[in-house]
Amino acid sequence: MPTLHWVGKDKVVNHHHEVPFRVLNKVSSFRAPEGLPANSTDNRIIHGDNLEALKSLLPEFEGRVKCIYIDPPYNTGNEGWVYNDAVNDPKMKRWLGQVVGKEGEDLSRHDKWLCMMYPRLKLLHRLLASDGVFLCSIDENEYHKLKLVLDEIFGPNNYLGTICWRTRNTDNRVKSRLSVDHEFVIVFSKGAPLLGRVIDRSDFKNPDNDHRGPYVTDPLTGKATADPKTGRPNLHYTMENPKTGEMFPPDPARGWITDFAGYQALLSDDRVWWPTNSTKGNPRKKRFLWETSERMPLSTFWADTKGQTGADELDGIMGSRVFAFPKAVDFMCRLLDVACPADAIILDSFAGSGTTAHAVMKLNAMDGGNRRFVLVEMGDYAESITAERVKRVMGDYGATKSIQGLGGGFDYYTVGEPMFLPDENLNEAVGTEAIRGYVAYSEGIPATDRTTPDNPHSPYLLGLNRETAWLFHYEPDRATSLDMDFLSGLRFGGDIGAARPGTFIIYADRCLLSAEFMRRHGIVFKKIPRDITRF
Ligand SMILES: C[S@@+](CC[C@H](N)C(=O)[O-])C[C@H]1O[C@@H](n2cnc3c(N)ncnc32)[C@H](O)[C@@H]1O
Repeated sequence: MPTLHWVGKDKVVNHHHEVPFRVLNKVSSFRAPEGLPANSTDNRIIHGDNLEALKSLLPEFEGRVKCIYIDPPYNTGNEGWVYNDAVNDPKMKRWLGQVVGKEGEDLSRHDKWLCMMYPRLKLLHRLLASDGVFLCSIDENEYHKLKLVLDEIFGPNNYLGTICWRTRNTDNRVKSRLSVDHEFVIVFSKGAPLLGRVIDRSDFKNPDNDHRGPYVTDPLTGKATADPKTGRPNLHYTMENPKTGEMFPPDPARGWITDFAGYQALLSDDRVWWPTNSTKGNPRKKRFLWETSERMPLSTFWADTKGQTGADELDGIMGSRVFAFPKAVDFMCRLLDVACPADAIILDSFAGSGTTAHAVMKLNAMDGGNRRFVLVEMGDYAESITAERVKRVMGDYGATKSIQGLGGGFDYYTVGEPMFLPDENLNEAVGTEAIRGYVAYSEGIPATDRTTPDNPHSPYLLGLNRETAWLFHYEPDRATSLDMDFLSGLRFGGDIGAARPGTFIIYADRCLLSAEFMRRHGIVFKKIPRDITRF
């Protein structure tokens, strides 16, 4: 498979592993006022660099995000974006803090953009569910490079296609002889995508009690004249309803889609649907529910989106122009509607003005869905624009609060301290809950097997299934031991419910049991990475 190479690639391919896990600090919560429609409340807006934020979302969301939409800087040379990742390479350190400019001003412009995107795409790939869909807005500046990089990360077989959408009318003022009037949305999956609008089964009817079940009808009318030179005379013949004898001559400009032999085959298979008489239209072909795919495919060509920017919408919500080039809400609704189910978690890690959240809430309000959003925005306007827009859209807004809010709520987070100190010990300042969450994740305990401290077996239990119990015997202010005392405090079987599993993975500061005893009882000891000399 062809792969793309650029300056700095070898330094960033594994950079996502070096990014520290950090805790996400909940700073505030917003709930729409009483009386507004019900909408999802378990939403998040995170202020911070998405490289760190995405890494920090892994413990909770790895493999769970049904739809990722991103709208990163297109690298036009005018966006003033800055390369800021702490990659340990002298050449790349020289890039830090500098605005990425235009071609000619900055010969490494595309290298920098690819170095910025690569580790973020790796993390996004890990967050995506196996049946999830990844969508990325982009334009001509980076489309072709991005496609190759996504082929590398997602696998070329998981490329679903590229939506090309019209952004404006042809602009006669542009200097080049080609007016670029479109943008792209690249679409990838992880192999089993749920893409496309679910078909409406109620459209399928069975008026003649066909034993093959309900069906819809498709046209039999063709597209060719009977002209022997320019058309298809074999597609021009008269159809006859075998029950009524009524004749249906071909439209001279169009004929039928199949020749006479094909028509005979359809007739003998009872595939032709007949209108009550010829004034009610033409014969059509039956298509049964069982032979129709569950979802309507999404077209890759959107010609009707000209001029769809969200600028005016956003001005109306915020009262003035606060953000350049937001996407239009209806454009985002259209994408999300076909890209994910109505209970999906939707992640946008280049959130800007928060259009994705607006679209999520609008779709929920329209179809009663329970989609949830997670937004990440690095700009210092994450609170004053991104979160503020979402608050206004959830509550009533407009100059006279004349537009009814969509309801719902969200929590606002910042990216906090790293989980580990430079000496590789746990940073205990992040708190027990965050540490437990991280250890559960690093042990690979499936979300469905994770437990909270109020479970009936042990307050130290992290996770449990039939085979394994994971215990994290941790106290912030004293060293802990894996000993007989600790084991006697575990409660399994009897009136407690779950039987004793075969394997116990137990974290503590020290182990006082013999290797032989542990082997016999299926116990694995793991030392908590912290310095206990202070106790
Ligand atoms: C093109 S805008 C997105 C616009 C958005 N789709 C909307 O409709 O408002 C890209 C956004 O990504 C943000 N961004 C760029 N780099 C980022 C990073 N490393 N982490 C988080 N946000 C970032 C920028 O601050 C900007 O707000």
